[in-house]
Parts: sequence; structure tokens; C-alpha cells
Amino acid sequence: MTGTADGKVAVVTGGASGIGRGIALRPARDDARVAVFDLNGTEAKSVVEEIRSAGGSAHAVAAGWGRIVNIASSSAHSGQPLMTHYVASKAGVLGFTKALALELGPKGTTVNTIPPGFIDTPMTRRNEAQGFLGAGVDHHAAQTPVRRAGLPEDIAAACAFLVSEEAGYITGRVIGVNGGRNT
Ligand SMILES: NC(=O)c1ccc[n+]([C@@H]2O[C@H](COP(=O)([O-])OP(=O)(O)OC[C@H]3O[C@@H](n4cnc5c(N)ncnc54)[C@H](O)[C@@H]3O)[C@@H](O)[C@H]2O)c1
Repeated sequence: MTGTADGKVAVVTGGASGIGRGIALRPARDDARVAVFDLNGTEAKSVVEEIRSAGGSAHAVAAGWGRIVNIASSSAHSGQPLMTHYVASKAGVLGFTKALALELGPKGTTVNTIPPGFIDTPMTRRNEAQGFLGAGVDHHAAQTPVRRAGLPEDIAAACAFLVSEEAGYITGRVIGVNGGRNT
């Protein structure tokens, strides 16, 4: 525990798996209280137990302060064949973020978005198993400028900065975390 997020509450949607799980575990290390929202109640409880066993604690919440980080996708920049619905919705997240940032800025809440690149998660492995990733995870990792697939912790680290006190002058931004892909 570092105590850098003492007194803050983190609400993580999709926090039972993959990137969301990584994001949920990170603020708990910094003394924040975390609410894990997910369709999968069993796995969400499991993440909550993990946070508690690591010593996570609850705190009251300071008014007029907030941080929102929307998870988009680098495919909003690159496009992706046979994924028009997904790419269009993720591009919508970028616009949603910019508009909401203008609305919520006066209330002390920042709104930013991270479009992840190629991240090794259960979703990615499911796609690989179903043959949607062509030559597979290792191939795509080798094509990435930093020569590896991303990890949920890579997204969590950027998210941890964007929700910090120090990031209070950053809002309406698109912060790519992609190992150099699709930049
Ligand atoms: N993995 C990647 O390479 C990659 C790349 C770009 C963007 N993303 C985005 O990152 C996000 C997380 O992806 P992931 O790879 O961690 O997937 P994942 O399948 O490993 O985890 C997603 C979690 O979200 C939950 N979920 C789904 N719909 C929900 C809803 N409506 N409400 C609450 N919970 C819900 C699922 O039950 C699951 O636990 C997604 O928005 C995805 O589009 C992932």
C-alpha cells in the first residue's frame, strides 16, 4: 500500500476480468476503496476478495471531485475489417469522452479515454482460439514496436495516473497505450 489514493473511491465497470480486473486491483494498492461492477457476479466477488486479502480499505468520498477513464480501442484509429459495429462504437467513445469532459470540468471531474492496443486478456485468448487473430497472439506481439503484447497492468498504470490528483489538468484527452501500434 502506498496511500496515494487515500480517501478516493474507484468504480470499475467490467472489473471481473482482463483490463478491468487489472485496473480494479491497482487503486486498492494505493488505499482507494474499489467498487467492482461486472455482469459476472461470481468473478466480481472473487476480485473483491483479492482486493480485501491484499488489505484494501474503505474511506469516505471528498464532494466535487471525480475522474472518469473510458476504455476505447486503438481500432477506433486504425479500423478493423468485419468489426464495423465495434470500431464505430469505440470511435463514439472518443467523442463521448470529449463532450463529457466539457460538461463535467466545471464540477471538478476529468474525463479521458484510453484506447488499448493489443492486450493479452481472456478476450484476446478467446478470439485466438476461435481463429479471429490470424497467426495468433505471438505473431501480433512480434509485430508490435516494443515487441510484446500489452498486459492489463499496462492499461492500469496509465489509468492510475489519469485518476490521480496530479492529473487534474488533463481532460478530454485520448491517451493511447499500445506499444507503438496504431499511433
Ligand atoms: N484485449 C485487447 O486487446 C483490447 C484492445 C482494445 C480494446 N479493448 C477493450 O478493453 C475492454 C476490456 O477488454 P478485455 O480484453 O479485458 O475483455 P475481457 O473479456 O477479458 O473482460 C471484459 C469483462 O467485462 C465484463 N462485461 C462485459 N459487458 C459488460 C457490461 N455491460 N457491464 C459490466 N461488465 C461487462 C465481462 O463479463 C468481463 O468480465 C473492452 O472494452 C475492450 O473492447 C481490449
